Amino acid sequence: MLACFATEPGSGAIPISVVAEQQYPEWLAKQDAFAREWLSSIKFKPEAGNICQLPNASGKLARVLCCAADPDNLWSVGNLPFVLPEGLYQFDEDNTSYAIAWGLGAYQFTAYKKPLREPATLLLRTEEAANVCNIVESIYLVRDLINTPADDMGPSELALAAQNLAKQYDANFTQIIGDALLHENYASIHTVGRASDDAPRLLDLRWGNAAHPKVTLVGKGVCFDTGGLDLKPSSGMLLMKKDMAGAAHVLGLARMMMQAKLPICLRVLIPAVENVVSGNAYRPLDIIKSRKGVTVEIGNTDAEGRVVLSDALTEAVSEKPDLLIDIATLTGAARIALGTELPAVFSNDDQVVNDVIKHGVKYGDPVWQLPLFTAYREYLKSSIADINNNSAEPYAGAITAALFLREFVPDDIPWLHFDLMAWNVRAKPGRPQGGEAMSLRALFAYLQNRYS
Ligand code: BES
Ligand code: ZN
Ligand code: ZN
Repeated sequence: MLACFATEPGSGAIPISVVAEQQYPEWLAKQDAFAREWLSSIKFKPEAGNICQLPNASGKLARVLCCAADPDNLWSVGNLPFVLPEGLYQFDEDNTSYAIAWGLGAYQFTAYKKPLREPATLLLRTEEAANVCNIVESIYLVRDLINTPADDMGPSELALAAQNLAKQYDANFTQIIGDALLHENYASIHTVGRASDDAPRLLDLRWGNAAHPKVTLVGKGVCFDTGGLDLKPSSGMLLMKKDMAGAAHVLGLARMMMQAKLPICLRVLIPAVENVVSGNAYRPLDIIKSRKGVTVEIGNTDAEGRVVLSDALTEAVSEKPDLLIDIATLTGAARIALGTELPAVFSNDDQVVNDVIKHGVKYGDPVWQLPLFTAYREYLKSSIADINNNSAEPYAGAITAALFLREFVPDDIPWLHFDLMAWNVRAKPGRPQGGEAMSLRALFAYLQNRYS
């Protein structure tokens, strides 16, 4: 069990009351005279985010008051694990979303630096403990994978991470590495990744019973994106260790589903490459014959994600999954459209995408649909190949990238495509700065609801 959680009360847990600003007078009226006197003597202001640690008559910490603008928002409690002193706590009212926010707020990336302190510990109810720990631990995995520097998280290390996960859950794991990609007809993955000292590869994890509905996940695993010969400026390159976040997300989601033993037949495909510069790097206006047979002209070597995903999607759809989900840090344009905190989702299936969006609203993990607006398909025309990987127009970059992927997904396979940031640019309650899982709680809730 993570240090921030316990299931045994031991000598007792300190209660925490979460109170809305407007409800404070009513709440205060119900408290004993000692508490009222204390709050008045410290001139406590019941403003959102303010936290009060209340002593008992002998001066010991007895209870906690946490003021929130919106107690329905799980992040209202996200700061508590490091604001409160180490010790055992329990919310007055049962709330599984608070428990998840607590766990997510207690995260620290400690692989390269000692933690400052241990988080405070939350007492979980036995009925919720398995689900809460599953979600929180899976999101820790996602964050750890993204936060790990590219020098320690290249294609081979990402492969090891997938292999470890497979081992933990008795899943099958295979990979196609380096030149074998050419022999097995994955030229797009090979071409993008061949310039790296760490060979490109396609990772393939399978789990579950073949008789169950087939759910296939595809994640962009660009372990570092320099832009290739169309080199990014340093400001644009700085965060590009996170360009394998799609891969991290699908591994985290796979972990959630395997741990919960969902009755599905799961497949995870990750094209793992590094997009770097070298004498044998792919060039602007090179043409790749993709796995599907579609020829792809490289208008820009920095639009590499869609290229590696095209071969993985072609393999994914060859088995006609019941549901296909790809997750990628695909475009800067999606961030221009929606900002860093709101992932874009595209889909060819209105019912599926509406359901996922609803689960996102319900669990405080919002996603926003953008259209597969077919009129923009013409921006991807190439005069000497079937398609260009770069749009001729500077506008609607997230949509044209999604339309590129759509070329590799038949209309009759329900498909969701996520284009997300996967990074908290600044710390917020429950969301430390750095690698972040986005849309995964929404997706897991949707999948749990649909398949169990
Ligand atoms: N990995 C980037 C997209 C990205 C950038 C995601 C910043 C999140 C934050 C991707 O490979 C890329 O470079 N896309 C280009 C595409 C363009 C060359 C058509 C982009 O978005 O600028
Ligand atoms: Zn790029
Ligand atoms: Zn990229």
